[in-house]
Amino acid sequence: MLNEKDKVKKLVGEASVEYIKDGMNIGLGSGSTVYWMVKKLGKLVEVGLDIKGIPSSNQTAEWAEQFGVSLTDFSHVKQLDLTIDGADEVDQDFQLIKGGGGALFREKVIAAAAKELIIIVDKSKMVTQLGKYPLPIEVLPFGWQMTANEISRLGCVPQVRKKAGGPVVTDNGNYILDCPFKLISNPRKLDEELKRIVGVVETGLFIGMADKIIVGDGDGIRTMNV
Ligand code: A5P
Repeated sequence: MLNEKDKVKKLVGEASVEYIKDGMNIGLGSGSTVYWMVKKLGKLVEVGLDIKGIPSSNQTAEWAEQFGVSLTDFSHVKQLDLTIDGADEVDQDFQLIKGGGGALFREKVIAAAAKELIIIVDKSKMVTQLGKYPLPIEVLPFGWQMTANEISRLGCVPQVRKKAGGPVVTDNGNYILDCPFKLISNPRKLDEELKRIVGVVETGLFIGMADKIIVGDGDGIRTMNV
């Protein structure tokens, strides 16, 4: 049985496949909302839709395989027609925090490589200002403590993401620092400052990238264009 939030995730995930057309190369995001998109896409492939996907995580690649969605990579594809992904926070300017699942680096690559980025979220992700959700930042393992220390000068106390036995290791072999900035007044500036710190691989701030947001709640879905 799905709970109310998962029902909404299923609704927006399934609704998003409407934008996927025959022959497209699709960036496949990560997370529990994307799961429903990939599953639905598999059903369309079963009845003849011809598309290829580039996954943003090993988990998404597994789902694609499970549901019969063919995969490709950037040695075969120069540009993606469309990327569909979830988010952890979305503000009124369509700026995003992503990386709750730790896949932010590859998610940013498939977002940057796409002609269009569609974000699928339940209404709880919509915020007036980014920052309540701790910002995930992917960092190199070597000297991560030094990197965390530099990040802390920007106004947060970074926590290395852990699971039993030690730090979470991303699909790229790196660590994630979760950074509770609380309120991010200028996301673009913060992103630029973070990217200048040695050891930062990528941040979970996606600025000026999203083109369309599909938001769901108990009453249905709403689509917003930039
Ligand atoms: C993965 O790294 C994230 O960016 C996800 O897209 C984000 O956490 C949303 O996940 P859910 O759809 O599971 O809420």
